[in-house]
Amino acid sequence: MFESLQAAQADVILGLITEHKNDPRPEKVDLGVGVFRTAEGETPVLNVVKTAEQLLVDTQESKAYIGTAGDPNFNAAMQELMFADSVDAERISTIQTPGGSGSLRVAASLILRARPDAKLWVSDPTWANHIPLLAGAGLQLKSYPYYDTDKHVIRIDDMLDALSKLPAGDLVLLHACCHNPSGLDPNEDEWRAIADVIVERDLVPFVDMAYQGFARSLNEDAFAIRHLAGRVAEMIVSSSCSKNFGLYRDRVGTLSVLAADMASRDIVHSQVNNIVRTIYSVPPDHGAVVVSTILSDTELKAAWRVELAEMRGRLREMRVLLNDALLEKAPEHDFSHLVRAKGMFCFLGISEDQVNRLKKDYGVYMVGSSRINTAGITARNVNYLSDAIAATL
Ligand code: LMR
Repeated sequence: MFESLQAAQADVILGLITEHKNDPRPEKVDLGVGVFRTAEGETPVLNVVKTAEQLLVDTQESKAYIGTAGDPNFNAAMQELMFADSVDAERISTIQTPGGSGSLRVAASLILRARPDAKLWVSDPTWANHIPLLAGAGLQLKSYPYYDTDKHVIRIDDMLDALSKLPAGDLVLLHACCHNPSGLDPNEDEWRAIADVIVERDLVPFVDMAYQGFARSLNEDAFAIRHLAGRVAEMIVSSSCSKNFGLYRDRVGTLSVLAADMASRDIVHSQVNNIVRTIYSVPPDHGAVVVSTILSDTELKAAWRVELAEMRGRLREMRVLLNDALLEKAPEHDFSHLVRAKGMFCFLGISEDQVNRLKKDYGVYMVGSSRINTAGITARNVNYLSDAIAATL
């Protein structure tokens, strides 16, 4: 049977993990997959996660199955973190999912059941796995303009214009903050304008929030979700705790669906749970119970906010560091968009050929689009890195 298959292509992001690992050069630099790294280049378990895990070792009584929707305490705490009091909480169904990707996958099935002919419009560009994941689930995808690769700004007018021409009932995938891959987010006025078009055209927002707390603050990063929730009848939100709790491999996230009223919320909730049962049956628990332990304890929550702010601060510092180094080494090139971007990613703004040369000649790894993970920059490697970039320009 399997002789009919050909080898699948390596994932454009995850494939870099192995390539970088197998590179023997000690000076190599990993700006590929989106994981946070410290100044020492490590991705440690957050202290607050260690504390919560110790508490669980001492007190957790069972690892019997949880239901398809996961842990109600986790779901309530996450819903509050995202929506706050922007909308009647009883209109929202939130379930625990295996990471943000699991959430996207369940959402895709829900959309197919509810509105099989609708198209989902994604930003150009968007996270490299959005398209394979969502189209692979059966959704019809189209793109709207988002990023100007020459000027390194958001094409807000083109985006609004494109959205204003969409057929009523279509869905629009939006990144709540820390747009992946560009790092450039709409400002609050631009979000208001986006919401205006969504309401006018009767579109359904589908918001992906994988980086709450990495751009400005937990509350400010939720602006788009809260503003939209106050304006629209229906909305889908996928979230991930991979980055802000550093729980990458524990696979924890949520799917929230805002429905027009409580009755339709109950129907959506039953559908979502039915979909979960047919894909992965029940979600993994460990990461979610760690998160709910942290969010339900005032001291642990405060300690988490401090660690989150430290991660955010380091990302910002590294952007400035690289931009300053490039200003010195390649003064004829403008890299100021590195500093304007938020969160982990931004484009360096070089060609795929230059990306390949950086890999081959200098052991500097990044996605082919020249997306860099700024967490891979350190005070120790910035000199080498900026020399390598300057030599490749
Ligand atoms: C990334 O964009 O690098 C991360 O979200 C990791 C992934 O799964 O692609």
